[in-house]
Amino acid sequence: MTRHFLSLLDLSSDELHALIRRASELKRIQHRGDIHTPLKGKNLGMIFEKSSTRTRVSFEVGMSQLGGHALFLSPRDTQLGRGEPIEDSARVLSRMLDIIMIRTYDQSVLERFAAHSKVPVINALTDLFHPCQLLADMQTYFEHRGDIRDKRVAWIGDGNNMCHSYINAAKRFDFHLNIACPEGYDPDPTVLQAAKEQVSIVRDPLLAAEDADLIVTDVWASMGQEEEQVQREKAFARYQVNDGLMARAADDALFFHCLPAHRGEEVSASVIDREESVVWDEAENRLHSQKALMEFLLLGR
Ligand code: CP
Ligand code: NVA
Repeated sequence: MTRHFLSLLDLSSDELHALIRRASELKRIQHRGDIHTPLKGKNLGMIFEKSSTRTRVSFEVGMSQLGGHALFLSPRDTQLGRGEPIEDSARVLSRMLDIIMIRTYDQSVLERFAAHSKVPVINALTDLFHPCQLLADMQTYFEHRGDIRDKRVAWIGDGNNMCHSYINAAKRFDFHLNIACPEGYDPDPTVLQAAKEQVSIVRDPLLAAEDADLIVTDVWASMGQEEEQVQREKAFARYQVNDGLMARAADDALFFHCLPAHRGEEVSASVIDREESVVWDEAENRLHSQKALMEFLLLGR
């Protein structure tokens, strides 16, 4: 049966842990300069309906390092942007490609595509989830601090796609997640409900950060919400991750941001640019963890 990765919950806890370990192994192989090309002859289609730097480069380079090839497909110059039904696009593309990643708005578009695809489909960000980022984030935590099980994680900011994927991660990796978001910017109740044992909504960002092992934030206005920027800056004014907030967390707390970041908004320059910042490792791990994901989906290991 074709496995897809539309949300973190599509993989079991054991599968995700194995995938993270494999990602670190692939990183060592890459850093040693060893050649590892198990996906020779395989083709990855990359459909982007939103902008991207990290996701595009990590998938394209990752596939090339594994011996395969990647094609960038923009709706601007394919029939996808001219109203060809998503189901037809899935049927056709999956007869030519071996694996497909999609960055789009609506999770249901991704689900409809996957339902009509013969090959694995990967969620490369929707308005609802960003599971690939969580693979990199979990790999980064494991590499710097060991197992995240029973650790305290604080999400500071919008109840958005990244927040939803942290909720799913709390369930699969068994950590406690405090979410500090202003009223009106809560995560999706259905997503929350599925992990209610692991997750608490704590409005006060300083309280949420208390003794946390990991502090995570993201932009206040996601792609597609640009016109809400000013209104959101007001609503989130108290939700900046800065030195004061980091001081409430555990002494060795890590700070994560999926990037791109807005210094002076959701995070201060002093936090993201500090000497021990691991956000650049976090970004690099997109490459290694997605290589592990493609191996898993295509080779079953
Ligand atoms: N974090 C992330 O997904 O970055 P891009 O939007 O640059 O792909
Ligand atoms: N929440 C952000 C993440 C960007 C990687 C967005 O959807 O724009």
